[in-house]
Amino acid sequence: MSEHIEVRRDGPVLEILFARPEKKNALSNAMYRAAREALEAAQTDGSIRVVLFGSEGDAFTAGNDIADFAAAAAGGERREPEAFRFIEALGRAEKPIVAAVPGFAVGVGMTMLLHCDLVYVAETAKLSTPFVNLALVPEAASSLLLPLRIGHARAFAMFALGESLSGAEAFTLGLANKALPAAEVLPAARAAAKALAERPLGAVLATKRLMRDVAGILARMGGERQIFGERLQSAEAREAFQAFAERRPPDFSRLTS
Ligand code: COA
Repeated sequence: MSEHIEVRRDGPVLEILFARPEKKNALSNAMYRAAREALEAAQTDGSIRVVLFGSEGDAFTAGNDIADFAAAAAGGERREPEAFRFIEALGRAEKPIVAAVPGFAVGVGMTMLLHCDLVYVAETAKLSTPFVNLALVPEAASSLLLPLRIGHARAFAMFALGESLSGAEAFTLGLANKALPAAEVLPAARAAAKALAERPLGAVLATKRLMRDVAGILARMGGERQIFGERLQSAEAREAFQAFAERRPPDFSRLTS
């Protein structure tokens, strides 16, 4: 378990809440593990019909803890395996997932939404996938799923230029079901989860299965994982992580790959 993941039951709904608000809910290894274990347990627990991801504080999550990225790069690891195990569990999840996004959703905080079935965002939320700014590449099969959802040009600008979407834009582009005032996001997500839990579970599961190419998603995650691990070891990534720690812009001008 992690003190920064809160797992709550509300009848047939399992809530998994990111609870590290002082770090904008940046995800540590322990948090990934706790969230994955809760998500996996929900798949086999017959009394759980819906999973809801939410957060404490004003952010959804600022994505992977960049200090953990830096430690992985310095230690010569390929990539934090816990992050990928969490991502793969999302790809495999059969039960429906609802997300409540009150603010920042960065990196995996944004890409995990592509694996959620109902998404409620604050109008003012900021969704971004600045992988290239960190000298990394997209993960969570987002290199496949994001262009499918919003088109290549917009997806490339998000990945490569770090352009963000507001919650209102995410709604317009079909990435979210509703964009709401921040205080209404979690109640709306909870109401949707409750409504979903009242539907016939067999039909819900079969519908989700029909709508997703799980084998294709897992295959893309595997391909991304390998390249991501290589990028983590690059001089570019070391410069990006150091710049974040020093609160300065990175300087890639002297690096060639
Ligand atoms: N990893 C580790 N720490 C993080 C973090 C992350 N991904 N995101 C935020 N934090 C920490 C900050 O370092 C800061 O810690 P400190 O108070 O000890 O200095 C604290 O959380 C608050 O963040 P701050 O940057 O002051 O908040 P903000 O409101 O000005 O900006 C963000 C919020 C999300 C825009 C900004 O924190 C950010 O860009 N984070 C990095 C996001 C990112 O690149 N994630 C990886 C994607 S692959």
